[in-house]
Amino acid sequence: MTRVLVSMLALAGAAALLAGCGKPQSGSDQAAAPTEPASAPAEATPEQAKAIVATLPAPYNAADLDNGKLKFAICRSCHTTAQGGPNMTGPNLYGVFGRKAGSLDGFSYSDGLKATGIVWDAAHIDTWITDPRAVVPTTKMTYFGLKDAKDRVDVVAYLKVQTSPLPK
Ligand code: HEC
Repeated sequence: MTRVLVSMLALAGAAALLAGCGKPQSGSDQAAAPTEPASAPAEATPEQAKAIVATLPAPYNAADLDNGKLKFAICRSCHTTAQGGPNMTGPNLYGVFGRKAGSLDGFSYSDGLKATGIVWDAAHIDTWITDPRAVVPTTKMTYFGLKDAKDRVDVVAYLKVQTSPLPK
């Protein structure tokens, strides 16, 4: 009887050890899990995105951000949007709302864009992406334009969320 009890206790001990073993393992799994670099910018939560979009005038404040993200994919081939992101074929767009056209340090803009005097807001960006060459014939943005008005509204709102400081 005592022997059975002892071996049961031993079994319980072994089980506890095994359970204990599981812990550091899952802990190290967790540490290895994130694939993004530690400096990856925080994505806006749906609530934060909503709050940022609400600062835009109509019709941009009622935009479909999922469609905006989808249609912005082509812009991403030339532009980064995160704070401190690199310039590519086009300039980094973080903070572009309220920025004077052609004014980001370290990017070589066309003289034509710099001379426009545009301060970027939703309406100006909308016109710009309709047909950049109609705004600045000599522009370096070799993009044919987004012809669907609703897509432009969605892209502009998505861009606003991606390039704005996140509300607390
Ligand atoms: C083929 C590359 C390319 C694509 C695609 C592209 N851009 Fe650009 N973008 C540029 C370049 C280059 C400039 C600088 C233009 C100049 O200097 O004339 C620019 C400038 C801009 C600017 C002005 C930035 C500033 O600092 O003044 C905005 C805003 C912008 N792009 C938004 C967009 C959006 C939104 C899209 C997608 C609908 C897009 N771009 C697609 C290359 C691109």
